[in-house]
Amino acid sequence: MSLNHQQVISYENIEVERRGHVTLVKLNRPAALNALNTGLMRDVEQVSRGFMDDEQTRVVVFVGNGKHFSAGADLKAPSVEPPPTMVMRRRQHGLGARMIRAIIEIPQVTIAAIQGAALGGGVCIPTACDFRIGAEDCFCGYPEVNLGINLAWHALPLCVRLVGPARAKRMIMLGEREDAQTLLDWGFLDQVVPAEQLLSAALTMAEKYAGQPPVAVQMIKQSINAVSASMDDAVMHMDADQNILTTLTDDRAEGIAAFFARRPATFKGN
Ligand code: COA
Repeated sequence: MSLNHQQVISYENIEVERRGHVTLVKLNRPAALNALNTGLMRDVEQVSRGFMDDEQTRVVVFVGNGKHFSAGADLKAPSVEPPPTMVMRRRQHGLGARMIRAIIEIPQVTIAAIQGAALGGGVCIPTACDFRIGAEDCFCGYPEVNLGINLAWHALPLCVRLVGPARAKRMIMLGEREDAQTLLDWGFLDQVVPAEQLLSAALTMAEKYAGQPPVAVQMIKQSINAVSASMDDAVMHMDADQNILTTLTDDRAEGIAAFFARRPATFKGN
């Protein structure tokens, strides 16, 4: 499906709003804290791929409707039987990586505007963008480890590049939340603004890039991505398989049970 500027496409889980050369993509499951279920992830993948055919847009801004940018993977998604064959199960597990790749491969400049929480898969989306602006009250983190699972979706190197190996290990191994000021100091966020100014600050940044020559800007983006991500596929191609493995552990079940019971988890390494 193309995203030509003359067309209006409606999605179930996102809103797309055009403002001249700037297009806002709004995650739109606010009642579920924009938790990433299959439908939302497919919509983000599809809208991202559509920018390839969109000449009008020069900058894409990702925002989250509601209190939080995104609470990450939807832990309440109705459990469906996994595909009966491993061949299809592996492909199904690849959806997150396909969505993140689609965002990275948007030719235009991309910005994420983060309010409240951006956790787990919910922070993978901003790290796939070129720039991140946070509201003063925002916080980010990778709680996957506390659910007994690895960080998948090819998102690990995106974090390493922003904060360096030691801070990435700290964030991803401990799964703690980091506040806006820390994330700014670490270079994870490019700018922090009062919450009520978040959208206007994101649009101001967007307009700055939208005023630059798009051919040169998009070539520069492509080259910098190629330079900085040259090893990503080699390192991360197995992360969906690792995710399948970790979802089979007792520690995964314990992590999920502890989250919903609002109690600390006890992990046994099995
Ligand atoms: N998937 C599905 N439901 C979720 C969710 C998720 N990822 N995160 C939170 N919820 C649910 C809560 O269970 C709660 O449901 P309830 O009202 O039926 O009890 C509701 O959303 C509100 O959550 P609450 O924690 O009360 O809101 P908050 O504003 O105080 O905090 C978060 C929001 C996002 C910081 C917090 O909910 C959280 O840490 N969520 C888990 C994040 C996570 O581990 N994601 C998975 C990554 S792999």
